[in-house]
Amino acid sequence: MPTPENVLHQFAQLINQQTCKQPFGRLKVGVDLGTANIVLSVIDEKNQPVAGIAYPSTMIKDGIVVDYAKASQIVSELKQKLEENLQQSLIYAATAIPPGISSGNAKVIANVVESAGLIVTNVVDEPVAAATVLQIKNGAVVDVGGGTTGMALFRHNKIILSVDEPTGGTHMTLVLAGALGISVENAEQIKKNAARADEVFSIIKPVIEKMAALVKNWLQPYRTKNIYLVGGASCIKNFAQVFHEQTRLNIICPPEPLYVTPMGIALHVHLPQR
Ligand SMILES: Nc1ncnc2c1ncn2[C@@H]1O[C@H](COP(=O)(O)OP(=O)(O)OP(=O)(O)O)[C@@H](O)[C@H]1O
Ligand SMILES: [Mg+2]
Repeated sequence: MPTPENVLHQFAQLINQQTCKQPFGRLKVGVDLGTANIVLSVIDEKNQPVAGIAYPSTMIKDGIVVDYAKASQIVSELKQKLEENLQQSLIYAATAIPPGISSGNAKVIANVVESAGLIVTNVVDEPVAAATVLQIKNGAVVDVGGGTTGMALFRHNKIILSVDEPTGGTHMTLVLAGALGISVENAEQIKKNAARADEVFSIIKPVIEKMAALVKNWLQPYRTKNIYLVGGASCIKNFAQVFHEQTRLNIICPPEPLYVTPMGIALHVHLPQR
């Protein structure tokens, strides 16, 4: 059996190289409508990644769809590209929502995916999707994306808490733009520039500390040993260290943090009985 780490590396490679693999049986599609990225992941009946595609998103804000038509168009185009690569139709999908989002907004997310021509068989909480890939039975999974920070806490393979706050990588970018007196677009580039990681960290450290304090607060009533960090914003230098200093818990950073949740969403597709 491939490890979760292997599966994540394979999935990231498929996205980065825009290639696909020969699938086994029917296909399952995960649609992650993120604040910063829209990602479609395709896995087969053996749950092996076979294809994936990512697109920078501006149509979603804090987990809520702000431009329905554009979001639907993009998902439809991404689906079409994958179908051309795979030489077959994609039918069954799952999508995800930040924990705590209203049922009305969750319905809108599912509608975007359906209007792009997919059948939505399931809607999961984002950090729950991440936990499925990582096969987490105990501990907290924290997904720090562009607009939201969500957490799912597991005990004996059962979810006991699912929470979310509207803060993430975009918040870091705004703080950086303000501190350096530059545009948000410029700040976004600098934030991801490894050569400026120390300077960036010194400016946005308080934002990370706030995120870690949030998680510490959520976990305060529970006995937890491990925190698994996923989501693009967790790529920031020293992010895990700040979380450890604040919470004093064991921090685990799985590979390919941008793709853990999108990959996990596909694992939640329910294929109909034949
Ligand atoms: N190398 C990097 N260094 C720092 N930040 C990064 C890096 N790569 C991506 N990010 C940040 O990660 C965020 C995007 O992460 P992700 O794709 O997990 O978010 P999302 O799923 O679109 O958003 P959300 O889950 O909040 O709706 C952006 O704010 C982006 O700037
Ligand atoms: Mg996300």
